[in-house]
Amino acid sequence: MTTVKPTILLIHGFPQDHTLWDPQLAALSEVAHVLAPDLRGFGNSDPPKEVMPMQTFARDLCALLDERGIDRAVVCGLSMGGYVALSFLSLWPERVQALVLCNTKATADTPEAREARHETARNAKQKGVAVIARGMIGKVLSLHTRTEKPELVAQVGSMMARQSPEAVAAASLGMAERPDRMAMLPSIDVPTLVITGEADELMPIATSKVMAEAIPGAKLVVLPNAGHLSNLEAPELFNATVRDFLASLPRA
Ligand code: MLT
Repeated sequence: MTTVKPTILLIHGFPQDHTLWDPQLAALSEVAHVLAPDLRGFGNSDPPKEVMPMQTFARDLCALLDERGIDRAVVCGLSMGGYVALSFLSLWPERVQALVLCNTKATADTPEAREARHETARNAKQKGVAVIARGMIGKVLSLHTRTEKPELVAQVGSMMARQSPEAVAAASLGMAERPDRMAMLPSIDVPTLVITGEADELMPIATSKVMAEAIPGAKLVVLPNAGHLSNLEAPELFNATVRDFLASLPRA
């Protein structure tokens, strides 16, 4: 019997690009077809619109699946990528074979958070992305990573700093207008894995617990020593967790 590998669509967060997923490419490609595109504006992709709502990113990803002739994928998003994954699921549930939600949440922004997004958008254009990247590095990596893995700190810093001001501003404004998705969670009927880092300051464990408990049958995995970028900070455990999850999926 030949086994058809699932496709896993890896969606990066903010302000990142597809290189976020470098430690996953080889490790997951043994068990899945791996797609790790740049969201519009980021990395090597096309320029963004003034505002990039999460559903616009999702539409781009759906177009990518169409272009590749892929009907269904395991949709895996980290942080902003998770917002995009939930948006994708709300638009095309039939195209989602399973869901992996990493270091993310289903709630909308508070009014204060929305205001902060607008400030980030202004800062990106006026002060440059390097300033934003410097401010974020301490928040996206755990103290353990910052102490033990200086090369990773430098790599994440330069990945964030090289993103274009337009992309950062547009995605920030897009995140500010994303809807609350909590009400949709109980109706999710595909296998779902929720992953987070034990030291994620931006999405505390409680946030992931609430999300996992609201999704029928969802499994929550908390990676030790990892912060917000759990796939980079604890790549072996992250990869093993996702590989086990992929192996557990019903054959398509
Ligand atoms: C991300 O990592 O994508 C961002 O921290 C998400 C957010 O700002 O809400």
